[in-house]
Amino acid sequence: MIDSTTIKEVLISEEQLQQRVKELAKQISDDYKGEEVVLVCVLKGAVMFFADLARYVEGDVSLDFISCSSYGSSTVSSGVVRIMKDLDKPVEGKHVVVVEDIVDTGNTLHYLLENLKSRNAKSVRLVALLNKPDRRTAEVKVDYQGFEIPDYFVVGYGLDFAEKYRNLPFVGILNEKVYQDKV
Ligand code: IMP
Ligand code: MG
Repeated sequence: MIDSTTIKEVLISEEQLQQRVKELAKQISDDYKGEEVVLVCVLKGAVMFFADLARYVEGDVSLDFISCSSYGSSTVSSGVVRIMKDLDKPVEGKHVVVVEDIVDTGNTLHYLLENLKSRNAKSVRLVALLNKPDRRTAEVKVDYQGFEIPDYFVVGYGLDFAEKYRNLPFVGILNEKVYQDKV
């Protein structure tokens, strides 16, 4: 599966991911001690991170799922965001922690966080596994960050290119050849 013609380099190993996820879960558990918290998974990219993180967050936790689409090509997002699958339960009066794979331009999260705040949640915070600040165009406060990364297109541990590579247990840099051939 690790073939340099598709994955140029492993950027974050499985061990590094698992260790960092536990640290983030500990931080979240400490910050919300004694409080009820709704962890919101942003489908599909956050799914691996969410599943690993959620099992280590201690306390009164419930899980919900949302799916948004941001129009654009497969490697560059546009500013237009639409909710494809909404949360099952209202978040009014609840502490919400949005769990996302990556903040890139920030467009998706900027829209989503504002949307959730407008539902009168008690608080809304963001945990992002990866942060690519070089490409930010919309302001987003990343309350909990896994790793800051340079401007590479990465795949694995939930992140995809054209729906592929989500199942890799590490985060790797996609070889440009893979998308140059397809755009
Ligand atoms: P935004 O540009 O911050 O709105 O990011 C939108 C979405 O693009 C993210 O939630 C990811 O699903 C996807 N994305 C951004 N950068 C990458 C990347 O390097 N690899 C895979 N998906 C990415
Ligand atoms: Mg995403």
